[in-house]
Amino acid sequence: MVEKLRLGVNVDHVATLRNARGGVHPDPVRAALLAVEAGADGITAHLREDRRHILDADMVRIKEEVDAPLNFEMAATDEMVEIACDVLPNACCLVPEKRQELTTEGGLAVSAGHNTLAPRIEQLQDAGIRVSLFIDSDAREIEAARSLGADIIELHAGPYTEATGAERGKELQRLIEGARLAESLGLECHAGHGLNYETVAGVSLIPNIVELNIGHFLVGEAVFAGLAETIREMRRLMDAARESLT
Ligand code: PXP
Repeated sequence: MVEKLRLGVNVDHVATLRNARGGVHPDPVRAALLAVEAGADGITAHLREDRRHILDADMVRIKEEVDAPLNFEMAATDEMVEIACDVLPNACCLVPEKRQELTTEGGLAVSAGHNTLAPRIEQLQDAGIRVSLFIDSDAREIEAARSLGADIIELHAGPYTEATGAERGKELQRLIEGARLAESLGLECHAGHGLNYETVAGVSLIPNIVELNIGHFLVGEAVFAGLAETIREMRRLMDAARESLT
């Protein structure tokens, strides 16, 4: 039987909404707890260099308060390695990071970045943290991830989720081949970026992929799934207060 596909819920954009007001609501840790209650197998959060969404304290609280593996997404920098070695997540997913980008735009350049990546991967693994590399589904990059000693690769699903028509099928085929190669090299294979209700089934059919990481769509869709109920509760509280005057 094919193994159950794990779902990692990325709570970054709950923090984006919180940071828009600079307060404490909505709390990404509360979202992480709810995600686990709803069936998530793990929580992913990306501590960016510019701290635009997740903050250092969020990572500490997710690790302490949420009873599920934490996948700590980060750039391969000394600052982040130091923080990760303090937080001690289950895994670190190394991603490329450019300050101006809206989100992670492409996979890591593993073969070109060997010298930067190798010592940081070793430091994380020495601390007992599994290391995942977010890469494009490209044989050279997958083989480079293997020779760097990564435990996991996360295939960049963006080219597939953004493609339309026949192109989408071709991009799915690239993910299928990448996942197959990863498994044959002994790498655990994850995928993520841009997945939604329409695109999730395609990647879920790839048996060598064991985990999907999904964030932005879930948080965006939750607005529509939950807004009406939230407004009804506000209406109820307002009406109950007014009625108490009579
Ligand atoms: N995996 C990685 C490595 C990512 O960088 C992201 C985006 O932060 C995700 C998964 C989740 O992507 P999305 O928010 O588009 O679902």
